[in-house]
Amino acid sequence: MDILITGANRGIGRELATRLAARGDRVIATTRAAGADVGGADAGGPDVDWQTLDVSDAASHRALSVRIGARPLDLVVCNAGVYLEKGRDRPEALTPEMWQKTFATNVTGVFLTVQALLPALGRANVGKIAIIASAMGSQSRASGGSWIYRASKAAAINLGRNMAVDLAGRGIAVGIYHPGWVRTGMGGPEAPVRPGDSAVGLIERFDALSMATTGCFESYDGTPVAF
Ligand SMILES: NC(=O)c1ccc[n+]([C@@H]2O[C@H](COP(=O)([O-])OP(=O)(O)OC[C@H]3O[C@@H](n4cnc5c(N)ncnc54)[C@H](OP(=O)(O)O)[C@@H]3O)[C@@H](O)[C@H]2O)c1
Repeated sequence: MDILITGANRGIGRELATRLAARGDRVIATTRAAGADVGGADAGGPDVDWQTLDVSDAASHRALSVRIGARPLDLVVCNAGVYLEKGRDRPEALTPEMWQKTFATNVTGVFLTVQALLPALGRANVGKIAIIASAMGSQSRASGGSWIYRASKAAAINLGRNMAVDLAGRGIAVGIYHPGWVRTGMGGPEAPVRPGDSAVGLIERFDALSMATTGCFESYDGTPVAF
């Protein structure tokens, strides 16, 4: 399969890129910083094609689309995300800039990624979009705290559900996923799930995604997550 993953230079995205390339998929892994240290030229193996993309920047998407050219994409993983108020989420500490940057990445970033890559997804037999959201964005599980991050992931989930409806006619399936509480820069050292275990589970979910299950919201282990 031809696969593109955003925010793949570290964390869950990095694990996904490495594991998908190892099983033989052709992976375009994106990193927002041009010339970023992604761990050496062969990071992720020879089948990982590193490209620059800031998901919040429309010009960056246009430039990547040109580099992709006429190549089809079977799967686009919208993984890039930020959690800016982690550890400092008292209401008084939240700023307009934190709201703006979080939504620009976690919500608009998902939209811009899908919009730019729709032509490439349309060239695949069945195009798939995977949105890495979070159970923290569940409306029914709203348990307080992290207002900005939760609101952004709730918006990403809503966006994904509506994309699933509107892209069904184009033969494109959309899955929304909770990766678990994962030991990454974002999840922190106390998180119980290893990045590799999250990635293995997510890859199983991506493989299972079809037009019959489009619009699903699932945890990395296959458990449905309440909207
Ligand atoms: N870890 C968890 O427990 C957990 C739980 C639920 C959901 N998630 C979600 O899973 C996804 C991956 O999380 P993670 O734990 O792997 O986080 P991470 O280790 O903090 O990595 C985040 C990745 O997103 C990239 N990124 C941030 N802003 C970007 C932008 N504007 N353009 C392009 N790339 C950008 C980062 O790039 P830089 O290196 O340039 O910053 C980095 O590669 C996120 O969407 C997150 O919300 C994580």
